[in-house]
Amino acid sequence: MTLFTNACMFDNGRLVHKDAVLMDGALSFFAPNSITADAADTVFHNCYIFPGFCDVHVHLREPGFSYKETIATGTAAAARGGYTAVCSMPNLNPVPDSVDHLSEQLSIIERDAIIDVYPLGALTVGQRGEMAADLEGMAPYAIAYSDDGRGVQSTEMMEALMQRAKALGKVVVAHCEDNSLLKGGYIHDGEYAAAHGHRGICSESEWGPIKRDLALAEKIGCAYHVCHISTKESVQLIREAKARGVNVTCETGPHYLTLCDADLQEHGRFKMNPPLRSAADRDALIEGVKDGTIDMIATDHAPHSWEEKSKGLEKSAMGVVGLETAFPVLYTYLVKPGIVSLERIIEMLTRAPRERFGIEQGEQSYTVWQCDDAYTVDPENFSTKGRATPFAGHELFGTCITTIHGGKIVWKTK
Ligand code: DOR
Repeated sequence: MTLFTNACMFDNGRLVHKDAVLMDGALSFFAPNSITADAADTVFHNCYIFPGFCDVHVHLREPGFSYKETIATGTAAAARGGYTAVCSMPNLNPVPDSVDHLSEQLSIIERDAIIDVYPLGALTVGQRGEMAADLEGMAPYAIAYSDDGRGVQSTEMMEALMQRAKALGKVVVAHCEDNSLLKGGYIHDGEYAAAHGHRGICSESEWGPIKRDLALAEKIGCAYHVCHISTKESVQLIREAKARGVNVTCETGPHYLTLCDADLQEHGRFKMNPPLRSAADRDALIEGVKDGTIDMIATDHAPHSWEEKSKGLEKSAMGVVGLETAFPVLYTYLVKPGIVSLERIIEMLTRAPRERFGIEQGEQSYTVWQCDDAYTVDPENFSTKGRATPFAGHELFGTCITTIHGGKIVWKTK
């Protein structure tokens, strides 16, 4: 039996203290300091106990790219990061654009996932943006639809997809990127790019399609969710759309809230799409978190092989891992300095994503964290196959002691 004495939990938004006993994969709660340690194998003091986190944006890479990640390694990393549910993105091989193609992923999930995995179906065949995928056929199995990794370039196609998703009662999850504005860019089109001779990605390549889609979603009345927003203009456009009553939600990632292009180094572990933007963008994202414009935090966990990430800023693949550092990064850089409340961060990792996508919390879904001691992030110790993170070497607070999913211990520290 494991005992957590004087653990902190949220009860209707209020921080309360309890003792908790973990036995046979289940937590039971008691009055604080009421349980004696005699019968316990292990005792932890002053931990936080949160509902299991939910990440609506992860790349688990299977089927098709198991050299980058598998459902087994990706869900192990998620459990270690405190997650009990993740939504998996469709840039796979085969692309889940039909029931047949989706079923391959479903059987691997069934076999190997240690937490809940909800796959997204693709919006278009092969994510090529030319022909709509079989949204209707996939509806019983796909939590939502997205062409994540690629933006839907055609306005007419997006409009037709939104109509169909609306009829199915599903959310359109948009990776917003206007290819005509990219011009070979690969980091933010800002001071760092100018100073170091890199080609930049302008902010409009993100906010332009968001603006287009918000107008479409407003006209059609479909549920619309924007992936990984990174620019101040995106925050403002979504803020205004929400005020008009548009059915829109959005996410950003821990890295966009805590880093900016001034933190870039000449290594692929600083490269992701969208890129780290300016300090002003980062600050606007934090404001968006505080005023509720940004609904949830998703990692965009995007593992690649070390070889693919070792080619510098220009040539490396886009994407960084995030499942195992998300909460520690948010706790260390936003909660500890008093920038965002712990309660708001937990809301964005738990209730908000589950509510938007209709994902149940379930019984005995908890994650327990010790936040008193700092440690240095060493990607060699990760459970994910990916090693590329801009947070390597950072001193973070927040160690996941255990994660419980449906009465099973899916992660436990030694
Ligand atoms: O950095 C990224 N990596 N952004 C994306 O949109 C796709 C992702 C990936 O799949 O590697």
